[in-house]
Amino acid sequence: MKKLWGGRFTKSTDHLMEQFSASISYDQRLYPYDIEGSIAHCKMLEKCKIIKSTESKKIIAGLQKILKEFERGEFKCDEKLEDIHMNIESRLTQMIGPVAGKLHTARSRNDQVCLDVRLYLREETRDIESAMGNLCQTLLKLARKHIDWIVPGYTHMQRAQPIRFSHHLLAYMEMILRDRERMRDMYKRINIMPLGSAALAGTNFPIDRNYTAKLLKFPEITHNSMDAVSDRDFLIEFCSTSAIIMMHLSRFCEEIILWSTSEFDFMELSDAYSTGSSIMPQKKNPDSAELIRGKTGRVYGNLVSLLSMMKSLPLAYNRDLQEDKEPLFDTVDTVFQSVALMNEMLKTARWKKIPQEKLSARGFLTATDLADYLAQNGTPFREAHEITGKTVAYCLKNNKTLETVTLEELQALSPKIQKDVFAHISMEGSADRKNVYGGTAKNQIEKQIKRLEKKLKTYPKIK
Ligand code: ARG
Repeated sequence: MKKLWGGRFTKSTDHLMEQFSASISYDQRLYPYDIEGSIAHCKMLEKCKIIKSTESKKIIAGLQKILKEFERGEFKCDEKLEDIHMNIESRLTQMIGPVAGKLHTARSRNDQVCLDVRLYLREETRDIESAMGNLCQTLLKLARKHIDWIVPGYTHMQRAQPIRFSHHLLAYMEMILRDRERMRDMYKRINIMPLGSAALAGTNFPIDRNYTAKLLKFPEITHNSMDAVSDRDFLIEFCSTSAIIMMHLSRFCEEIILWSTSEFDFMELSDAYSTGSSIMPQKKNPDSAELIRGKTGRVYGNLVSLLSMMKSLPLAYNRDLQEDKEPLFDTVDTVFQSVALMNEMLKTARWKKIPQEKLSARGFLTATDLADYLAQNGTPFREAHEITGKTVAYCLKNNKTLETVTLEELQALSPKIQKDVFAHISMEGSADRKNVYGGTAKNQIEKQIKRLEKKLKTYPKIK
């Protein structure tokens, strides 16, 4: 088959080379963007009188027909035509004849592919960002619902201090909100129009780049043609933001997996997001959470692939850059699905409030509160720490907890202890004494919920 670039060639491309260099199997997902970009380019060529209006009409009608063919699943991709751009151009030529060749005036595949990827990623970023918004809404709802649920907070995976479950959920919400901010910020750097850069140097034709940008709703155009066709930092930024999102989701999933064990028994995922075992009939596994945790690795890998691909590339376009697509597409798919799945998983989970006795039974979560109580009553903190340590030892020996130990027993350890101590060392009392901005006291959590509600409500749509 004659290649669209075959003019100076006498021999045909080797079959192995053809297979090796074809990207059509995966870049065909760019078809709507390639067609959209071509239509805008064509309109611009017409407006600048580079092609005739009759020619432009033919080209645009042909492109619209091709779009329909794709949508109906009738378009036949050919590996010999390398990529999506040449597959479409070749089909256009079949349809409308040699006038199709005018579409590529003042354009190169180098700026074309860059435009397509930007159009594609712009849309995907908006979808991911809005899925993140839904996830935040779910977290906020759960936080509101479980505000009275006190659970152990952990450090070193050892019970540390009582916290409100809402506090734990809102910690993840803060992370996801930062990720969302990163997405929104990065969007500005995706949303730039590269067409007109041509192969690397710009074009001889009197084109109007701003007009193309306007048609495609880009607020800005690239400022350096060599940079425009050869950098992929906007993709790297997307993959790096995605890697951070996945890291956050993965941490959360790790907790969900733990919380679903009979040892923790805090929650149960809905059947819709769990699977059974083919050998152990009693099992219900949190596979959805495990898969998100597992897929985090490939998203990290995609970031490293892109960084490695770029690191030694001289200016301007090099074919290595074709390798940007698979890691990008895989990242888009994985992140979108993970965020959406996480939201559904949380929305449908059953949360099991653990009985207070079980909560305070082990771990002496309020020991620090007892030490603080003593210190506030004038005992030097070192001594308060010592007395509390002795109290814990006493309880362990006598099978008591800080919730069941009596005032007499406590007073035997320190005469400074009064009846009001129980307001300090109960689980709830302890949590509500953390009345500092950002702390776990109920009124602080309520304050945060209000702030976050307002934040979500007033979040402008990504533009
Ligand atoms: N399929 C190519 C890519 O993804 C399109 C650009 C080809 N340009 C070239 N000079 N061979 O990068």
